[in-house]
Amino acid sequence: MKLWTGRFRKELDKKTNDFNSSISFDSRMAAEDITGSMAHAAMLAKQGIISAEDAKAIQNGLADILADLKSGRLDIDMDSEDIHTFIETELTARIGDAGKRLHTGRSRNDQVALDIRLYLKNRYLPLKQQLTELISVICDKAEKYADAVMPGYTHMQRAQPVTFGHHLMAYAEMFIRDIGRLDDAVNRMDLSPLGSGALASTTYPLDREAAAKALGFGGVTDNSLDGVSDRDFTIELASALSLIMVHLSRFSEEIILWCSWEFRFIELDDAFSTGSSIMPQKKNPDIAELVRGKAGRVFGDLMTLLTVMKGLPLAYNKDMQEDKEAVFDAFDTVSACLAAFTPMIDTMHVLTDNMRRAAANGFINATDCADYLVGKGLPFRDAYKATGCLVAACIDKGLTLETLPLDEYKAVCDLFDNDIYDAISLDRCVATRRVYGGPAPENVRAQVKRVREILNKN
Ligand code: ARG
Repeated sequence: MKLWTGRFRKELDKKTNDFNSSISFDSRMAAEDITGSMAHAAMLAKQGIISAEDAKAIQNGLADILADLKSGRLDIDMDSEDIHTFIETELTARIGDAGKRLHTGRSRNDQVALDIRLYLKNRYLPLKQQLTELISVICDKAEKYADAVMPGYTHMQRAQPVTFGHHLMAYAEMFIRDIGRLDDAVNRMDLSPLGSGALASTTYPLDREAAAKALGFGGVTDNSLDGVSDRDFTIELASALSLIMVHLSRFSEEIILWCSWEFRFIELDDAFSTGSSIMPQKKNPDIAELVRGKAGRVFGDLMTLLTVMKGLPLAYNKDMQEDKEAVFDAFDTVSACLAAFTPMIDTMHVLTDNMRRAAANGFINATDCADYLVGKGLPFRDAYKATGCLVAACIDKGLTLETLPLDEYKAVCDLFDNDIYDAISLDRCVATRRVYGGPAPENVRAQVKRVREILNKN
């Protein structure tokens, strides 16, 4: 059944109906469509636009439909044009004329704009919870490995010593910002468009505020044209979701590197890695690779939304039906990635000895060696050059700064003394980087504490 019969002399062509229909993907908003309709009907009755009995029949009818959908007693008719059509048709079949009064002062245009907002608000909290879980797993691991020295890199070259805990907490910061971005998007979206009608509101004396309040919105949209044609929130959410994927993907890339035998900084738990069908020795980080790969898919969803919206004149255009698959897919993908990623991080085995060995072999304490000379009064630039000569000497002789004899040091600069070996010990290099935000174990522990406090407040 179409909601728009009357003006038409023929049924819609079958294949065209399938093409035009959104039921295959908007049926997931059934509960929100029903909640929205209940609030609309209650408001219509309160304003004297429909009778209290009709409103009651509508409420009961909709509640029954929802219960039947949940229990599986009612199947969604996949030939329906969309979920709004299906529910209104089913309601009218069940309760008669009262059902036909539900759509008074409303259009599917403000109805769908409302449903997506309600749906996305409902999806948001569980996703935020998933992010919170990931951050708290990162905090636990960072606390455990706050003292585990590893090489920090720039240009993928060993650069300066950090700790594994410090490295992990960098990701905690990214995911905390991600939660903030999602919060911002959801707060801006927290306005009800109901009452915007098709585009120009309506002549009925609607109480938009009352319906919005009943639905848990913070307020109502201020312009009916914008109310029905705004999909900024889908773009903002897809953008925030894309950034989450950027972060998950960078993290995945490191996991993949760290698992390789070139690094061997970590080993993934057997329950979160896969084997090869031909090479018996292989243990592959498929989960991390898939997460990295799925980032592209979420960016694609964002691009879809931007492109769909960019050329649309006001107000509603059918192009906007394309918003749902894209934003739903972005939510589904991020949620699926987090569900696999968090336990993978939680169960990974950290090979601290290998990290330390890698840290010991890359001259990552060269800056500290230069700083030692600065401490003895040499200008930094001269100290830098002297240390460069020492590194070159080490490379020639197959030594490290730790194993280079003192007379070799003295040959380059007579300010060197026996205490140089303590000054360049890796633990000292890390422990003395106490500047706020730096890798000193006590800093990392303090950062873990701060992040946990943020999580508790959220
Ligand atoms: N299925 C449509 C959508 O998702 C609902 C709105 C239909 N409105 C219309 N005027 N055709 O956008």
